[in-house]
Amino acid sequence: MISFRIISNFILVLVSLLLLQPLSFANHHDQKIVIEKTFKSSETFKLGKELYQANCASCHQSNLSGQVGWKDKVDADGHRLAPPLNGTGHTWHHSDKILFYITKRGLAKMVPNYEGKMMGFSDKLNDAEIKSVIAYFKSFWSNQNYQYQMKLN
Ligand code: HEC
Repeated sequence: MISFRIISNFILVLVSLLLLQPLSFANHHDQKIVIEKTFKSSETFKLGKELYQANCASCHQSNLSGQVGWKDKVDADGHRLAPPLNGTGHTWHHSDKILFYITKRGLAKMVPNYEGKMMGFSDKLNDAEIKSVIAYFKSFWSNQNYQYQMKLN
């Protein structure tokens, strides 16, 4: 059974992201972020993969499938589990700007009273590195999801 608390937390995160978007990005309103998927033979893919495996795979899993039970279970601390980034979750419903800032700043900077585990990587990865990780995981999305998401940018 999916508990009411998990669903309401989840909705809170989604709604906060929508409402906060104009506020948290006030300093960047003119900055457009568009990240294209890449090909397995590219340098971006290799770099993104390496950085993903080193920084993200511990939670999002090395095959990008998210933690088992991510939809309706929590971890020992009562926090949500890491969702898939391979396009089988809802990652493709966020613009590249949102994905970039979730990764760079972490959800605590974007969602009031956030207590979960998605921290920011601004001290570990530079902007180009963050973009290569996003390009890497976008490369696993279906073409349909990819095309849908590119229109959000
Ligand atoms: C310590 C565990 C952990 C690590 C490491 C981690 N994440 Fe996350 N991430 C999460 C959790 C948990 C969520 C779900 C957010 C929530 O609901 O609290 C999440 C959510 C996300 C989201 C939003 C996904 C969506 O579908 O809305 C993105 C994007 C993301 N992470 C990218 C990354 C990237 C890129 C890295 C590596 C640079 C990374 N994460 C490393 C735990 C982690």
